[in-house]
Amino acid sequence: MTGFTFRRSDFPEGFTFGAATSSYQIEGRGAAGPTHWDSFAAAPGNVVGREDGARACDHLNRWPEDLDLLAGAGLDAYRFSTSWARVMPDGRQVAAAGLDFYDKLVDGMLARGIAPHLTLYHWELPAALADRGGWANGDIAAWFADFAMAVAGRLGDRLASIATINEPWCVAWLSHFEGAHAPGLRDIRATARAMHHVLLAHGTAVTALRAAGHTGLGLVTNMEFADPADDSPAAARAAATYDAIYNRWFLEGVFRKTYPEAALAGLGPHLPAGWEADFDTIAAPLDWVGLNYYTRKRLADDGSGLFPGWAERPGPLPKTAMGWEIYAPGIAAFLTRMARDYTGDLPLYVTENGMAGDDRRVGQDVPDPARIAYLDAHLHAVRQAMAAGAPVKGYFFWSLLDNYEWAFGYDKRFGLIHVDFETLERTPKHSYHALRAALMP
Ligand code: FCB
Repeated sequence: MTGFTFRRSDFPEGFTFGAATSSYQIEGRGAAGPTHWDSFAAAPGNVVGREDGARACDHLNRWPEDLDLLAGAGLDAYRFSTSWARVMPDGRQVAAAGLDFYDKLVDGMLARGIAPHLTLYHWELPAALADRGGWANGDIAAWFADFAMAVAGRLGDRLASIATINEPWCVAWLSHFEGAHAPGLRDIRATARAMHHVLLAHGTAVTALRAAGHTGLGLVTNMEFADPADDSPAAARAAATYDAIYNRWFLEGVFRKTYPEAALAGLGPHLPAGWEADFDTIAAPLDWVGLNYYTRKRLADDGSGLFPGWAERPGPLPKTAMGWEIYAPGIAAFLTRMARDYTGDLPLYVTENGMAGDDRRVGQDVPDPARIAYLDAHLHAVRQAMAAGAPVKGYFFWSLLDNYEWAFGYDKRFGLIHVDFETLERTPKHSYHALRAALMP
């Protein structure tokens, strides 16, 4: 595909189009303190090529060019994140230089007419806090609220929105049960604690931010469509357990003050004492909720008889360079389901959506027809969800730039803009030019 089938005018007046990135994936280290991603990446087998974020896209120095490119695509908004270890190198004491960087960045957005949408935490926990147990330690709720207040105290007068935490499922399950992200644990007790503390930290921060007069407060959750791999009751059970842990746990905690039974069956015995009493904090009212959506999974019973008891099976649909099936109806289904089951009239945002492709530069051209088709299909599905009543107010492309794709290193390219990781040269891909044509008047 060479162009989008939608125009800005197909969406309601005021609908926000933005692009998203995160600090560790693009900035480069600079004066930030060490994080658990640096130590995770340093151990063999965790990250392709043992690559880390030491240089990344050097956004720390090249941010004016990146913001120019963002504005040049006709985008209205930028979803960025703050590195806890840049703001507080030891996790507790503020370093003025860290906040100065984000201060300049926010002013740079405003100067270009771009609305700043902040995510406080997108995964690079300061190593000093990881040493103290990180997300498995309940004290993290207060540590995180202090960090949130330090950032909001400096930037809060100029932000369009503040999300607390990006993708609590990744922070907790992927990182403590599957061991695929920092801190790389495979421990059910640490998992249960992280699953709960990530929400407690979210609610504690929201409560503190709200009391200080900040508004536009939200949470960014990721969801994966969970389909049974076959017709058996066992596969249906595996898919339901996957759905409970991935797609229900976090919004159920925030909006219903409970956790799904299918997840509690395994995690319940490992939750911290008195966890039910935390729901009043966890359920602090929000102004919006974000959905990050990429793919679906097909689940079968793994035959082990152990929790969680699922095994992923390959699906028949076309796949991205991540090996993820392309399934656009899933984004519409989740937006509708979120509004119906949890968020009601609360504004919803698609805070991430996009795909990794095998994108190559040919001179000043980077053809990425598969990305244009992927984004077009998903935006079409978003409009269908809106027509069916889901109150979606905006959509953010993942990602503005090719960047550090966590355990995959620099191998997987998600950007609208190609980055040459030798020279750091930026080259807009065809999807970028197509977007500009769809969005610009
Ligand atoms: C999401 C993350 C983001 C990026 C995309 C591909 O889970 O929030 O940082 O890695 O996936």
